[in-house]
Amino acid sequence: MALLEITDLTVSFDTPDGVVKAVNGMTLALDAGDSLAIVGESGSGKTQLAFATLGLLARNGRAGGSVRFDGQDILNLPEDKLNAIRANEIAMIFQDPMTSLNPYLRVGEQMTEVLMLHKGASRRDALTESARMLDAVRIPDAQARLGMYPHEFSGGMRQRIMIAMALLCRPRLLIADEPTTALDVTVQNQIMQLMADIQRDFGTALILITHDLAIVAGSCRRTLVMYGGRVMETGPTDDLFEAPSHPYTRGLLNAVPRLDVPQETLRTIPGDPPDLTALPSGCPFSPRCPASHDPCSSLMPPLEGFGSGRLRACHAAREAIT
Ligand SMILES: Nc1ncnc2c1ncn2[C@@H]1O[C@H](COP(=O)(O)OP(=O)(O)OP(=O)(O)O)[C@@H](O)[C@H]1O
Ligand SMILES: [Mg+2]
Repeated sequence: MALLEITDLTVSFDTPDGVVKAVNGMTLALDAGDSLAIVGESGSGKTQLAFATLGLLARNGRAGGSVRFDGQDILNLPEDKLNAIRANEIAMIFQDPMTSLNPYLRVGEQMTEVLMLHKGASRRDALTESARMLDAVRIPDAQARLGMYPHEFSGGMRQRIMIAMALLCRPRLLIADEPTTALDVTVQNQIMQLMADIQRDFGTALILITHDLAIVAGSCRRTLVMYGGRVMETGPTDDLFEAPSHPYTRGLLNAVPRLDVPQETLRTIPGDPPDLTALPSGCPFSPRCPASHDPCSSLMPPLEGFGSGRLRACHAAREAIT
């Protein structure tokens, strides 16, 4: 059994302008200790997919389908059970650490509080463990740093502290939503390397959410490309980068700066993201797709397997090989 099994998940929001369909039938599975990057442009539904996994949708939101974590049915779990899972089993980190760190409390107090509250640790043990965790995310002089306030750290250091806090209770799944977007490229790379090391050393399953394909290579074993709340393509990261199958994946890759490609050939995908209150009945990418043809706008292509461990939902890609 996979650690996380999402089947035909839908997320929709009631708004004065109509129903916003943010996630439209997502199916994915993640094994314990495995890693998956979820990529797609802004608005493709990445964060809502993560929120549904944690049972954290906004009040006007509804989820359908199923999300199972370690066999438990997340979408129908009572609040106290959900809280226990969120405290001990699934941790989430966000783009801006200051939204999760309390600016008025020393880092050590925030970390020990978590351990005392959720693990019943003594103050002394909690302090030892907190220092060890800061050490694990390569914050030098951890013992002394526990006495400092969040604003005394650089952005990159704060993000490391967030990772350390997320790992304190030894979660089995870590969801990182755009964890490096606010940082400069060098620091981004260091944090991504750290996440990959942590994932390996702690055996934590990792879902990395990002709109930036450039940070995915080398960080996650598998990658899933999402658009209009659907899976466009998924497979081993190396294969997907080497030979993208879906026109949307190709479009995203064309927009990634690379050393071997002249800057002027970089192209973002023309057109706008879909109106989630009025999605086409077919492929949501069809209005922007260079390979779009007859069935694409009216008939959603099935997600089907090809190659080794890969899946894609595209009429044109399928016809190209038959
Ligand atoms: N409470 C809400 N009510 C109505 N619409 C919402 C609500 N929350 C999210 N949405 C919409 O759901 C869609 C998907 O949002 P989501 O945050 O998952 O996108 P994303 O892929 O994470 O984008 P980004 O890369 O910008 O973070 C967006 O169009 C967003 O406006
Ligand atoms: Mg998001």
